[in-house]
Amino acid sequence: MNLVLTGSTSGIGWETLLALLPQFDLVILPVRNLAKAEKLIQHLPQKEKIVLINLDLSNLACVKDGAAAILSQLDAIHVLINNAGGMYPGGKRTTEGIDLSFSSNHLGQFLLFQELLPALIKGQAKVIQVSSEAHRIAKPPEQDFSLRKSTSTVASYAKVKLYNILFTNEIKNRYASEELSAYSLHPGAVRTAFGSEASPWAKGLIAFTKLFFISPKAGAATTIFLATTAKKNLKNGGYYKNKKISSPSTLARNSKLGKALWEFSLAEIRRVFTNTGTAKK
Ligand SMILES: NC(=O)c1ccc[n+]([C@@H]2O[C@H](COP(=O)([O-])OP(=O)(O)OC[C@H]3O[C@@H](n4cnc5c(N)ncnc54)[C@H](OP(=O)(O)O)[C@@H]3O)[C@@H](O)[C@H]2O)c1
Repeated sequence: MNLVLTGSTSGIGWETLLALLPQFDLVILPVRNLAKAEKLIQHLPQKEKIVLINLDLSNLACVKDGAAAILSQLDAIHVLINNAGGMYPGGKRTTEGIDLSFSSNHLGQFLLFQELLPALIKGQAKVIQVSSEAHRIAKPPEQDFSLRKSTSTVASYAKVKLYNILFTNEIKNRYASEELSAYSLHPGAVRTAFGSEASPWAKGLIAFTKLFFISPKAGAATTIFLATTAKKNLKNGGYYKNKKISSPSTLARNSKLGKALWEFSLAEIRRVFTNTGTAKK
């Protein structure tokens, strides 16, 4: 069984790795800081099962190269956990001209999914998105999903976490017939490095509220539950909290919005790679 896990170098992702490493034969960790990852895993038992891949989700070219490197290691993926992400200052752009929060929390994951699709289908994979209850305060994206006009750190974060759930629903709608299944989750309010790249005021607010947060180990519990529970005991497309199915916001259940986000994401990727032919559906 093969696992691909993003965001393993800190917080929830690190605890997820510790719990899941013994349960998989091969564990691929796409990371944006290879030196940090190498140092972290050096004393792990069973570290020989781990392959580190250089992959910064905020850079689509890097995601594409990273995905090719992943596919060179395996032909089937059984679990893909899109855990990496965070809160970034509103209005900040990547070198590819994309909003940093949109790219890091949604578009990079979307492209990774598209590129890994043959291996995901072969493994009849579970795709797990670490979203957030913050999705409930997201305003309707209307025509523009890209956050180009957004300058608020918190509003941008709420929207991308909404996108994580819409993306999950769309994977179910488009690929259930190929035995792919997808789940999203809220990990709880967790004491991690979350918010360390946010705007100064958001950072201050998060630092204070962290006093009341749960541990990273507790925050990883729902991800681990979804990764290890048999598909027949889970709801395809479901949103989970505290290891239980939950109902996300009305917007997050809007299938028209999910479809529009999917089409928009494909178009954004085409805009960056003018002659890409990777997207399947
Ligand atoms: N903490 C909470 O209360 C909370 C609540 C709801 C949802 N979440 C979600 O939980 C997930 C994990 O967050 P966390 O709390 O564990 O935060 P964290 O400690 O900051 O960990 C974030 C992880 O994502 C990686 N990452 C960030 N941007 C990346 C990029 N562009 N490319 C590749 N990797 C990237 C980080 O890599 P580096 O080590 O290189 O920084 C790190 O491994 C996030 O999706 C977050 O939105 C967290």
